[in-house]
Amino acid sequence: MISEKIQDALNEQINAELWSAYLYLSMAMNFEAAGRPGIANWFKIQFQEEQAHAQIFINYVNQRGGRVVLKAIDAVPTEWATPLEAFEATLAHETKVTALINALYSLAEQESDYATRDRLNWFVSEQVEEEDNCRQLIDKFRLIGDNGMGIYMLDQELGARTYVAPAALAE
Ligand code: FEO
Repeated sequence: MISEKIQDALNEQINAELWSAYLYLSMAMNFEAAGRPGIANWFKIQFQEEQAHAQIFINYVNQRGGRVVLKAIDAVPTEWATPLEAFEATLAHETKVTALINALYSLAEQESDYATRDRLNWFVSEQVEEEDNCRQLIDKFRLIGDNGMGIYMLDQELGARTYVAPAALAE
């Protein structure tokens, strides 16, 4: 069993992951409408990844005999003027998610809940990757600036991203 305190914190995190999914779907729709199908594709995959993150926590709470309680998902922003603006917003958001995961990790340690701490290890590494991917894309968009050909080529590159379900989903 998990304590109520840990269960509540995990339910909050499930909500945060679903909010992230909603945010990235909103970004995908912004770039779909702007005629940037590759960037839209990148964010659609991000949307799928965040749903997988929520599902990993859902599976874990159920596995530990806890109760998943789904809460309302707050509204998300809907407009980003440029890809650079969207990727900067993504990095800022992922930095906040990293802080949430770290706070959960500290709580698991305080509560001597080592199984939860162990589950969170996957998320600690995942956040390093999320932030790094974002930083690399920000660098690329800064480098090309307003260059139309550069934006076209980067859009093509991001259009090649495919979804790979995380192994942790099957655990
Ligand atoms: Fe689920 Fe992007 O953190």
